[in-house]
Amino acid sequence: MSTMNYSEKIPNNVNLSEDRTLQRALEQWQPNFLDWWGDMGPEGSTDSEVYLRTAVSVDPQGWAQFGHVKMRDYRWGIFLNPGDAERKIHFGDHKGEKAWQDVPGEYRANLRRIIVTQGDTEPASVEQQRHLGLTAPSMYDLRNLYQINVEEGRHLWAMVYLLHKHFGRDGREEGEALLERRSGQEDNPRILQAFNEQTPDWLSFFMFTYFTDRDGKFQLCALAESSFDPLARTTKFMLTEEAHHMFVGESGVSRVISRTCAAMNELKTDDPAKLRAAGVIDLPTIQRYLNFHFSVTIDLFGADESSNAATFYSTGLKGRYEEGKRMDDHQLRGQTYRVLNAVNGQLVEKEVPMLNALNEVLRDDYIKDSVAGVERWNKVIEKAGIPFKLKAPHKAFHRNIGALSKVKVSPEGQVLSEVEWAQRQDEWLPSATDRAYVQGLMGRVVEPGKFANWIAPPVMGINRQPVDFEYVRFN
Ligand SMILES: [Fe+2]
Ligand SMILES: [Fe+2]
Repeated sequence: MSTMNYSEKIPNNVNLSEDRTLQRALEQWQPNFLDWWGDMGPEGSTDSEVYLRTAVSVDPQGWAQFGHVKMRDYRWGIFLNPGDAERKIHFGDHKGEKAWQDVPGEYRANLRRIIVTQGDTEPASVEQQRHLGLTAPSMYDLRNLYQINVEEGRHLWAMVYLLHKHFGRDGREEGEALLERRSGQEDNPRILQAFNEQTPDWLSFFMFTYFTDRDGKFQLCALAESSFDPLARTTKFMLTEEAHHMFVGESGVSRVISRTCAAMNELKTDDPAKLRAAGVIDLPTIQRYLNFHFSVTIDLFGADESSNAATFYSTGLKGRYEEGKRMDDHQLRGQTYRVLNAVNGQLVEKEVPMLNALNEVLRDDYIKDSVAGVERWNKVIEKAGIPFKLKAPHKAFHRNIGALSKVKVSPEGQVLSEVEWAQRQDEWLPSATDRAYVQGLMGRVVEPGKFANWIAPPVMGINRQPVDFEYVRFN
C-alpha cells in the first residue's frame, strides 16, 4: 500500500488500475494538466534537469528519492498515507462514529467546496512564481523554487483525485475549472485573494513561502483531522512536502538578513541609503515586506465569526489544529472564545460562541507558529551585534477580511484615522520605491556555488550535497 507504483501512466499508491473508470477520467485530465504546466509552470524550465526529490513511499523513512529529473518528466501522482480501517471520528456531532470512506450525501456540497478551495491555492502559487526562475539568486535557490513548483503541482493532483473519485461529474468539472482559473486574472481569478497577488521578486517569494505556505500547513492540518478519511490521508501526505516549502522561506529570509547584517558591520552603518548603494536589502525594508505578507496571509483564515466554520466543525469536515492533542470535549457547544472587534473606531475584545470563532482559533494558532520564526530571524541580527528587532505586526494591521477590516491600525496596534493611515502607510508597507529597489537587485546568478550579492549562501546543500553542487543542468 505505501509503495508508489511508478510503472503506471499515473504513479499512485491507491490501486488506481483497479478502478478503470476513475483511471480513464484521470488519464483524460492528465494532458490538460500538462498543457497548463506548459503554459503556466516555471518559465524557461522545460529542458532543465533538476535535482529533485520524488516520493517513493509514504513511510516516514525513505519517502524521498533525489536525482536529476527533467521538469516536464516529473512523475506527478496520487499518494495517500496508509489508512486505518478502525479510525473513528474524533470531534463534532459524529464523534465516536466510524470515519467515512465515502462522502455522506448531506455534506457533499460543503466538502466539495473545501477541497476545491484548497486545491485552487496549489496551481495558483505555481502561477504566482512562474517568472522567478529568470532572476534566481543562485542555482541552489533555483532548484528549491522548482522543487516547490512540482510539489504544488502534485498537491493539485491530490485534490483532483478526491474530486474525481468522490464527486462524480461535478468533481470532474471542478477538476477542469482548477486548470482554467488564473492567478491575478480579472475575469477568472483564483478563489482566495492572497493567491492573486504577485510574487514579483525573491524577497516576496521567501516571505510567501514562510508565511503563506504556513497558512497551507494550518489548513492542511485542520483537514488532516477530517472525518472524510481520504481527505485526512491525502492532506497528511501533503504536509510532509509543505515542511520543505516553509524551510525555503525561513532560511531564505534568514540568509537575506545575514547578508544585510554583514554589510552593516562592514560599512558601519544602518543608513538604508548607504546599504542600498552597497546592493543589500536594509532591515526596515525587510520589516515592511514582513508586514505585508503577514497581514495578507492572516486574512486567508476568513471572517473571525463564521457560521460556516461552525458547520464545518460540527459536521466533522474540518477539525482544529492538533485536534487530537486538545483536552476538551471536541464538540465545543456552549464554550466561548474572545475575538478582537472594532467598535466606534476602538479595538475591543468580544466573547463569542467558540464554534463560530473557529477561524479565529486557527488564525491565532497560526500567528503563534509564525512569530516563532520571526524570533529565529532576530537571533541572526542579534548575533551580528545589531540593535534591531523584526516584529510581526498587530493582528488588526492592514486587514481586508472580518471585523478588523473596518479600522485602520498601525503595526503596534494603534487605531488611526484614514488620513493618518494614508500619510504613514509607506512606513509600514513596501512602497513603490521599495519594490522597485528590490526588483532592481534581481538578476540571474546560476553558476554553481555563486550567489547574488544581496543574499548569503546557505549553511548546507540539499540532501547533503555541497553548496556548489550542480543542482540544475541547463540543456
Ligand atoms: Fe501545496
Ligand atoms: Fe506549499
